[in-house]
Amino acid sequence: MAESQTSFPKNKIRLVLLEGVHEDGRAMLEGEGFDVDARPGALEGEALTKAASDAHVLGVRSKTQLTQEIIDSAGRLLAIGCFCAGTNQVDLARASRLGIPVFNAPFSNTRSVAEMTISEVIALHRRMFDRSAQMHAGQWDKSASGSHEVRGRTLGIVGYGHIGSQVSVLAEAMGMRVLYYDVDTKLPLGNARAAGSLEELLRESDAVTLHVPATGTTSGMIGAARLALMKPGAILINNARGSVVDNDALSAALRDGRLGGAALDVFPVEPASRGEVFQSVLRGAPNVILTPHVGGSTLEAQASIATEVAGKLARFINDGSTIGAVNVPQVDLPDQGVRGGDAGARPHRILHFHRNVPGVLSRMHEVIASCGANISGEYLRTDGELGYVVLDVDPTDGEALAKGLRDVPETIRTRVLW
Ligand code: NAI
Repeated sequence: MAESQTSFPKNKIRLVLLEGVHEDGRAMLEGEGFDVDARPGALEGEALTKAASDAHVLGVRSKTQLTQEIIDSAGRLLAIGCFCAGTNQVDLARASRLGIPVFNAPFSNTRSVAEMTISEVIALHRRMFDRSAQMHAGQWDKSASGSHEVRGRTLGIVGYGHIGSQVSVLAEAMGMRVLYYDVDTKLPLGNARAAGSLEELLRESDAVTLHVPATGTTSGMIGAARLALMKPGAILINNARGSVVDNDALSAALRDGRLGGAALDVFPVEPASRGEVFQSVLRGAPNVILTPHVGGSTLEAQASIATEVAGKLARFINDGSTIGAVNVPQVDLPDQGVRGGDAGARPHRILHFHRNVPGVLSRMHEVIASCGANISGEYLRTDGELGYVVLDVDPTDGEALAKGLRDVPETIRTRVLW
């Protein structure tokens, strides 16, 4: 039996936010008039099932696992918000089969990663972390040996996407020359120049920073052969994904002095929890900065993630827009119109998720024709097995049409907004 929800007062729409979603997200959703229950920690087992059971929206970060069982048990669920970049913690296929959009914030921490990268470019050029460690151990070793200004040196950026291009702008502002390499053609920002090949970039750069995704082609992309192409004394930064660099080869190049330093924020195997010991061949290597996957972890990024995801959730609840959803077709929608004193004048909007099989649209159009409905807008997107159509209709037609569409066998879920 297909699910159906109709509009009801906003303060009856319950959003359960777990894992200490940043205050700005909660405030934004409360400002929309929703009933928001924000909790500090992750939940699992029965506690999670209970919290999900009466939630119209579940908001999680990376710890809470929204499995098929949890999603199935959350009978009222309309949408899921992942207040982070990844969505691995959610059974996306199950959510899409039930017409439940999942939203995230893939790029809200871009600037944070770019800033950390730039700070490392300078810190490595001055061997700052090794010097600081010496000082903490009581050693005063005042010398210019191995220290450089970054001004005039060449930064090679591998992957000129959101983060890489931000790094480019910041590096040029410090007087660096920027070379970049990307598999796609990218517009160079400022005076940055595209390298003809990855090899050319490695040969010409004083510092190389990696900003590519983890894919089959980037796995082991920087190994012994490519490290050997880098300038003597050059530095390497990996704030992208652990699979991109062969750390054994990097450690060898650092320890025998061919490379001048490295910074790594991501590792092929990362401890699952705070108490677990971090193991890496790079521990103790000279002029190496190791950070625990915190490139994107700033309060500003958290705030920006919270408002980005809260905004997407609010748009979906209020208007049916699925822009930014990772698992359902993306439909962008105009405003339904200003709600005047006479609520009856506002068009009804029917949100309809259905199985995308041949003939479903004609069955839907038969229903529309049989209701004699006056449709002012129809917005459809399909994506694999799922279709999402939004219909704006005269207020008098809304309920009858929604009922007719609910009875179309391929219907997964309908909701009426007015
Ligand atoms: P993006 O998707 O905007 O940019 C990636 C770029 O890499 C694209 O321009 C793409 O065309 C290019 N690319 C893909 N394969 C390539 C290849 N084989 N050679 C050269 N270029 C290639 O991604 P974004 O947001 O800039 O993120 C980059 C990386 O940073 C990702 O791996 C992401 O997971 C990681 N990241 C790490 C964080 C941290 O905490 N350390 C936080 C956020 C992102």
